[in-house]
Amino acid sequence: MQAVEIKKDIWWVGAVDYDTRDFHGYSQSPEGTTYNAYLVKDAKNVLFDTVSASFTGHMLCRLAKALPLEQVDYIVCNHLELDHAGALAELVARCKPEKIFCSQMGVKSMQGHFDCADWPVQAVKTGESLNIGSRNIQFFETRMLHWPDSMVSYLPEDKLLISNDAFGQNIASSVRYADEVSEEFLLNAVEAYYYNIVLPFSPQVIGALQALGGLDIEMLAPDHGLIYRDKRSVDFILNAYARLAEQKPQRRALIIYDSMWHSTEKMAYAAASGLEAVGVPSRVMSLKRNHHSHVMTELARCGAVLAGSPTHNNGVLPAMAATLTYMKGLRPKNRVGGAFGSYGWSGEGPKMLHEWLESMGMEMPVPFVKTQWTPGHESLGQCHELGKAVGQALAARCDG
Ligand code: FEO
Repeated sequence: MQAVEIKKDIWWVGAVDYDTRDFHGYSQSPEGTTYNAYLVKDAKNVLFDTVSASFTGHMLCRLAKALPLEQVDYIVCNHLELDHAGALAELVARCKPEKIFCSQMGVKSMQGHFDCADWPVQAVKTGESLNIGSRNIQFFETRMLHWPDSMVSYLPEDKLLISNDAFGQNIASSVRYADEVSEEFLLNAVEAYYYNIVLPFSPQVIGALQALGGLDIEMLAPDHGLIYRDKRSVDFILNAYARLAEQKPQRRALIIYDSMWHSTEKMAYAAASGLEAVGVPSRVMSLKRNHHSHVMTELARCGAVLAGSPTHNNGVLPAMAATLTYMKGLRPKNRVGGAFGSYGWSGEGPKMLHEWLESMGMEMPVPFVKTQWTPGHESLGQCHELGKAVGQALAARCDG
């Protein structure tokens, strides 16, 4: 296993995890991910972050190719979640660093995770910098982007931002740079990561973009996925984040549904025809065939959500409940909504869906549609009208 020199005396010493598929509910299928860690060789040799515990051996192997382990002087922990700090205890034991730097909140995380009372930990905060010889490291706390302890490190002499989770993507690959894959593939991975991890912290993203806006960044190195190594790539990701954080309405609708005997499925397609009638493209996603994190990725391109479920045990089907729970936690903004579903006897499901979407702050332009047993011409017409009404409300937002 080789370390990769990404700039003079700056080395990628992370690990590629082709097999991980679940990151607390976020499906990384089919890609896996990369845990990036970086070594800067200078008068003081500095290691930025580590990797998930099961990849400790990979990281130690790469690090040892670049530098004898005992010559690591400092470790900077930009974030203490265990996909980046899982190897920390082993690294500390082997390298015996002179100092370990993290944010004040990072100290608390570290104390919660590790038996670290005798570690040489030093808290840093925004505005502080550290000289390591021919270089300086400037620290910026990015609290709640996406944990309280999160921070980023900027090396002005190299015009390099080491950004931890922010700006990352779950891509597992033997290539290291964003310009080595297609922009479409990259954007999909960026949107998936943003909508499954970063979305609730969009206000913090806007604040961070302002705080970092004055920096001259030629290379942006996140802790997941590919590195942005030139101005074009850096502009691409900064612009993508600005757009994603804004959540400006997009003229496209997402229809999610689950169905027992195809009745609610028919209603979903009738709603799609209503959207089509008013010129709003849509994507229909069955929750039997689409994971909730892929639904969230699709939501990155959609300004409306229509949700359909039959009534099941006086509620909705479990896949729909799971998807809406996940979606609500990720706090999408500026959406239009609609609800529908079939039922046999009690019929609570569509009303619950309507209220669920409304509780996310969605504009609900018309009441929910429900139909008993199999939908006939009349109820499919109501679903068509539901699609039209949601499409028109969305179009008004997009054109307004
Ligand atoms: Fe990639 Fe918050 O850990």
